[in-house]
Amino acid sequence: MKFFIDTANLDQIKEAQELGILDGVTTNPSLMAKEGIKGTEAILQHYKNICEIVDGDISAEVLSVDFEGMVREGEELAALHENIVVKIPMVKDGIKALKYFSDKGIKTNCTLIFSPGQALLAAKAGATYVSPFLGRLDDISVDSLKLIEDIRLIFDNYMFETEILAASIRNPMHIINCAKIGADVITSPLASILALLAHPLTDNGLATFVADAKKLA
Ligand code: E4P
Repeated sequence: MKFFIDTANLDQIKEAQELGILDGVTTNPSLMAKEGIKGTEAILQHYKNICEIVDGDISAEVLSVDFEGMVREGEELAALHENIVVKIPMVKDGIKALKYFSDKGIKTNCTLIFSPGQALLAAKAGATYVSPFLGRLDDISVDSLKLIEDIRLIFDNYMFETEILAASIRNPMHIINCAKIGADVITSPLASILALLAHPLTDNGLATFVADAKKLA
């Protein structure tokens, strides 16, 4: 299972990278705006900065929603670095753009996936990744894990190479459940990744070991 960090914050990306378990990064326009990045030059430079920190797939989202715009932006993004994955929204023109980039050997991540049918279409178009959003489905009382199960079944039935990139992760249980189902990748805020570390019995046990270690000196 691959671990991506879902942020455009360079400090958090560095912190996750230093853990040694990071396989990639996902960003979106909201995450970029949160970092105060403004203008094309600044956006492109930010992606270059991320690529210098992490040697893995870096999803960079197009801002256009029409085919020509997605192709123009996607080509510019892909030219930045070999690890850039062009992130494309699940709309009709997005499907065409996925096919276009797939035919050119450029990696893609189809974002805003909320149904098995959307995932199937993206896989048919040759997407490298599909990003089903867990947290946003849970927010409206829809079982997000069922969606991951359904996509897993469909992709396995037909041996699609498209990877399931579980997104909109809100807590460590999302990560555990995705691992149980067999999502290929999770993209998570740093806090949920770090929450996997925590257990009170570990803390108590370590405190005892540290205290007893002093007796051995
Ligand atoms: C990642 O690719 C998605 O854009 C992101 O996980 C969405 O997360 P959110 O629902 O917490 O905004």
